[in-house]
Amino acid sequence: MVLLAIESSCDDTSVAILKDGIPVSNVVSSQVSHSIYGGVVPEMASREHQKNIVHVTQLALSEANCVQSDLDAIAFTQGPGLQGSLMVGASFAKGLSLGLEKPLIAVNHMEAHILALLIDEPRPSFPFICLVVSGGHTMIVLVNDWNKMEILGGTKDDAVGEAFDKCAKLLGLGYPGGKQIDELAKNGNPKAFTFPVGQVPGFQFSYSGVKTSFLYFLKEKGEEFIQENLSDVCASIQHALLKPLLSKSRDAMKQFGIQNIGMAGGVAANSRLRQSMKEMASNESWQLFIPDFQYCTDNAAMIGRAAMFKWDMKEFCGLEVVTEPRLKIGS
Ligand code: KG4
Ligand code: ZN
Repeated sequence: MVLLAIESSCDDTSVAILKDGIPVSNVVSSQVSHSIYGGVVPEMASREHQKNIVHVTQLALSEANCVQSDLDAIAFTQGPGLQGSLMVGASFAKGLSLGLEKPLIAVNHMEAHILALLIDEPRPSFPFICLVVSGGHTMIVLVNDWNKMEILGGTKDDAVGEAFDKCAKLLGLGYPGGKQIDELAKNGNPKAFTFPVGQVPGFQFSYSGVKTSFLYFLKEKGEEFIQENLSDVCASIQHALLKPLLSKSRDAMKQFGIQNIGMAGGVAANSRLRQSMKEMASNESWQLFIPDFQYCTDNAAMIGRAAMFKWDMKEFCGLEVVTEPRLKIGS
């Protein structure tokens, strides 16, 4: 079974080929043109997808040693995401499906981030708790099955990836700056400075306050001090951003008495979060699952993996299907 999957929900144009559910190519073209604006410009993102999608598809096919006539199905991201960006991927997928007379499969981007945990061995068995942390989402999900997911809690305001990026921007580290904070923090002391994180009940998160206190801290200390102590500043703000993720994941595991825990989304690429999760899982005798780096940030292989479950159940969609910028898990 050969599947072509397309991801275009934000600023990465990605196409993957899966053979019998295993990714054999996963081409990602990341749009760098947004960095000068300090965030994704939606109009520009859709134009870039239009420019890139044919080339990225051809690359994914050739890396997989495939031609279009080998394809058995086409999958694409239905939402959530930027409407214009989603529409480019969806329309392209519809064109392929129509031209090749092959079924079309619509995939929820957030479910795909979670199901990326099932791409490589070792794979978690259901049920498991998944911490989903990206530029747009921060949530703890109880994953009972591939199509039975329950959001236990999410963010009340900013997502943790957004907070990483906003703090990085204030430090002049470019966009998206989560990765730069991660790198600089490796040589810093996480306890050097303290930043208060929003205290919210249950499995909810709040990240808008910490960003404001970070701004005041930078203003008070001044440019020279910040540059001289950049690694400590990065390690400390990273520590503040990661702390609630770790403590609330632990609470969820305890409350539901679950042994398997996973992480998904772009922030799951953070080296400190990965290390702290490993330590916590080992102390509690839990099994921890984290996707390979390439499957953490936006990529089409995860869309393909999620689509395979639908292929097995013959859950195809019609050509009239529409993209949904705010598609919820389980909808
Ligand atoms: O899942 P993703 O690729 O796109 C969304 O669906 O949002 O996540 C992107 C987010 C960005 O905020 C980026 O700064 C963050 O993931 N990110 C990181 C790291 N790598 C990517 N944040 C912290 N540390 C990293 N190493
Ligand atoms: Zn994503």
